[in-house]
Amino acid sequence: MSAKQRVVVLISGSGSNLQAIIDATQAADYPGEICAVISNKENAYGLERARRAGIEAIALNHQAYNSREAFDAALKVKIDPLAPDAVVLAGFMRILTPSFVCAYQGRMLNIHPSLLPKYPGLHTHQRALEAQDATHGVTVHFVTGELDGGPSVLQATVPVLQNDTVDTLAERVLEQEHKIYPLALRWLLQGRLIYKDGKAIFDKTPLPPTGLSFNAISFCNGHTKAN
Ligand code: GRF
Repeated sequence: MSAKQRVVVLISGSGSNLQAIIDATQAADYPGEICAVISNKENAYGLERARRAGIEAIALNHQAYNSREAFDAALKVKIDPLAPDAVVLAGFMRILTPSFVCAYQGRMLNIHPSLLPKYPGLHTHQRALEAQDATHGVTVHFVTGELDGGPSVLQATVPVLQNDTVDTLAERVLEQEHKIYPLALRWLLQGRLIYKDGKAIFDKTPLPPTGLSFNAISFCNGHTKAN
């Protein structure tokens, strides 16, 4: 039996963050492996990425269920036999019910393309551009009942450039997403990162509301290996 921790990844789309995690888990010293990828959209490209990597790819169409509760219950029925140590939301575009969130609290992470608490919800790049923010970024956080509101673990900041469009800014942010998500997941699987009393704790120290700064870590290390 494998000594690696078990990870289930939930997606809805392209799965570039899933790919970053798949790539990270190829390293012999990575503490986890993906045991299944589940998408609420049958045509999500991320399912193809999973199959190519030899990972079980499951489609569970939310439209086949007549309530959010019914879909989340069906999702849980798929997840629980896999006995995951971590559930990773990687572009999973569904609001989750409180009972689903509760079942995986403390072992469920999400990645959100903004510097939370700024811009929870959709259209984050557009909103940062409209606000003429000088910086923008991405946050990995624990999932709680509050949409994009759980305690932050790790943030990466990027500059907003004068001629940026939603696409150029999104691309700059996505590059950072692919670095910080495998890293935050590594910490969770290693037990360095825990969720306690509504707070994210890293190496026994409660994190500030914005979590750790990937830019600061990279600067201190000169070079930070993200996986
Ligand atoms: C990412 O921008 C992520 O932050 C957001 O949804 C997008 C998913 O992209 N939650 P991908 O499917 O991982 O390429």
